[in-house]
Amino acid sequence: MNRARVVGTGAAVPRKVLTNADLEKLVATSDEWITTRTGIKERHIVSEGEKFSDLCTTAADQALKRAHLKPEDLDMILVGTISSDMLFPATSCLVQRNLGATNAACSDLSAACVGFLYGLHMADALIQSNKADNILVVGGEILSRYVDWTDRSTCVLFGDGAGAVVLQATKGDHGILGSLMKSNGCYADFICMPGGGSNRPANDATQIAEKLPYIKMKGNETFKVAVKAMADVTAELLTEQGFTHEQIDLFIPHQANERIINAVGAKLKIAPGKVFKNIERYGNTSAASIPIALDECVREGRIHDGDLILLTAFGSGLVWGSVLLRW
Ligand code: ACO
Repeated sequence: MNRARVVGTGAAVPRKVLTNADLEKLVATSDEWITTRTGIKERHIVSEGEKFSDLCTTAADQALKRAHLKPEDLDMILVGTISSDMLFPATSCLVQRNLGATNAACSDLSAACVGFLYGLHMADALIQSNKADNILVVGGEILSRYVDWTDRSTCVLFGDGAGAVVLQATKGDHGILGSLMKSNGCYADFICMPGGGSNRPANDATQIAEKLPYIKMKGNETFKVAVKAMADVTAELLTEQGFTHEQIDLFIPHQANERIINAVGAKLKIAPGKVFKNIERYGNTSAASIPIALDECVREGRIHDGDLILLTAFGSGLVWGSVLLRW
């Protein structure tokens, strides 16, 4: 059986950093509130003129180089995002053009903060079924362009960035061992952006006055579902694959809130030292958070050959999921 193995990682964030002190000047908030409630100290934000597809291309280029592959070797490009340059064409097509990946089929995945994991799930299925040998999976977001900068309950949370991996077909024991994706559309109004889609298109003159093309979130309700959903799906995946929490070498949960990360880690009984966190420096980068974290772990030497790595994420939809891989 073919397995999908990560053979290269990459990440890119904008240069501009927005600190909690900067936010104190914009809305009625404080470094103390943001730090204690979320764990975030600063986030990277795009400047005028910076494009999402360029961040994705930089991350993808790094992943390809580390995989020792040429762009033409890619069979498929999947980009998990809810903040593409345009409603269409797909960002994956723009990345294909920028890289010169002329042999790749391209598609974007809309699964909010879980977009990257949905990408791994689908790429794994394509590789297992011999439909592709080399797949680029990108997760990225520039939600700063959709944040209401007068709403203190959301504007302090998000950061911009992109991360990428190249998955390659292998016959060995290394690679994705299993993945489980879930969703519940009954919670669709927990996190949403009501404007800009075909229901209330961007050319509707009342959009801005009604504050429609901005992120709306029921933070507290989302928090409670997030902890249970991520812990449950991860426990189910571990049982399905015949592993226990003690065998996990590194747990990388979606970086949405430090309290959520700690609560999920505790529910799964994973030792705090094995739970990866970088939310302090990036905030919630949505679909980018796990591939940025993976890339950081690889570059810092925190991941070793044969390690058992567990990933989980949660986001608008509501959607959530978990991926287990042997490095
Ligand atoms: N600064 C100061 N005070 C604030 C701020 C702020 N930035 N934001 C909210 N408050 C106030 C509220 O107004 C409220 O005041 P009140 O008690 O006088 O009414 C108080 O702080 C508590 O507000 P809560 O919303 O209950 O705060 P909570 O502890 O729940 O933290 C947060 C809010 C950080 C949003 C948390 O609920 C959370 O992280 N939720 C989950 C978010 C998430 O995981 N989203 C999924 C991914 S996003 C995606 O898919 C795109």
